[in-house]
Order: sequence, then C-alpha cells, then structure tokens
Amino acid sequence: MLETKPILQLGNPILRKSAAPIEFPLLTEKRELIEEMILTTDAMKGVGLAAPQLGVSSQLLILASRPNKRYPHAPLMEPKALLNPKIMLTSQDTVKDWEGCLSVPGLRGLVPRKRWVEVSYQDLEGQEIQERLHDFVARIFQHEYDHLIGKIFLDHLESTLDLMTEQEFQQRIQNAN
Ligand code: NI
Repeated sequence: MLETKPILQLGNPILRKSAAPIEFPLLTEKRELIEEMILTTDAMKGVGLAAPQLGVSSQLLILASRPNKRYPHAPLMEPKALLNPKIMLTSQDTVKDWEGCLSVPGLRGLVPRKRWVEVSYQDLEGQEIQERLHDFVARIFQHEYDHLIGKIFLDHLESTLDLMTEQEFQQRIQNAN
C-alpha cells in the first residue's frame, strides 16, 4: 500500500551523496516511490521533494507548488515528477528569498537563486522534455536539484544573519497579512 514516508534529516549521509541516474523502462518500485513522494510532499506541506530525502539516492525530484501554511504565496500547479533533471541554462541575475527544507525542520534561510532556469528531464515514459522555469518554481527546482548533488540550502547562505527560525518566519507572515 502507498503511504507517506519519513524524511531523512540533516546529518544523514545519504543527503550528502550524489544521486544515481534512473534507468528506463521505469521499475514499478520507482513508480511507487513517485506516488509516495507526491503524498509525502502534500502531507508535510512541502512544495517539492527529492528522492534522497526518502533515502533513495536516485535522480528524481517532485515539483508540487501550491499555497499552504508553510508557503502561503506559492503558485498552484499539478505535482510533477522530473527524472534525471539537468540545468541547461540559467538567468544571469539571482533573487534572494526565504526557503525551508523538510530535512532541516525549524529553520528558514534567505537563499540566492537564479531567477529562471532552463531544464531538461525525462518523464515517466523516459521522454526527454525541455522547459524554462521561472521565479518560485525555478527556486523549488534549484532547491530540489541540490538534493541530487548532495547539497542543502544552508550551503548557499551568505551569512548566518540570513537564517531565522520557522516560528519567527510564521510570525512575520501573519504580521504581514
Ligand atoms: Ni529540501
């Protein structure tokens, strides 16, 4: 039966490994993993997830932007699985915004990311797709892609002054509304 899975936490060495490419045709266990990742992202109020966060070191990530308590201003999209994703081209300019990570609970960091990224990936059938992602969705992609190369958003912080707790972050959101 499909169910949500526990998320590996910062310090687990799997989160620091480079993930292996996925082969086609897709195994049933990989299809189930994708379903579990989508369920888990939803249950945990995330907007994306990478397979290593569930302990599977494979090049697979989920983009699932939608407004929720953790990200009230996220745009709504259908959850999408990106297999063997690659970054082909990026904007020159970067934008800083607050990010959290289900593997780093309780913290938010102000992370510089490229404004847009042109990415290439395979869908569940192995079809190659190229797409340009913008703004918040580009940010999610860059965050999740990092998980496939052993990186965490904390690695990009310019200063520890760019950190705050989730509690402080939530208070600021409420005060801003
Ligand atoms: Ni993360």
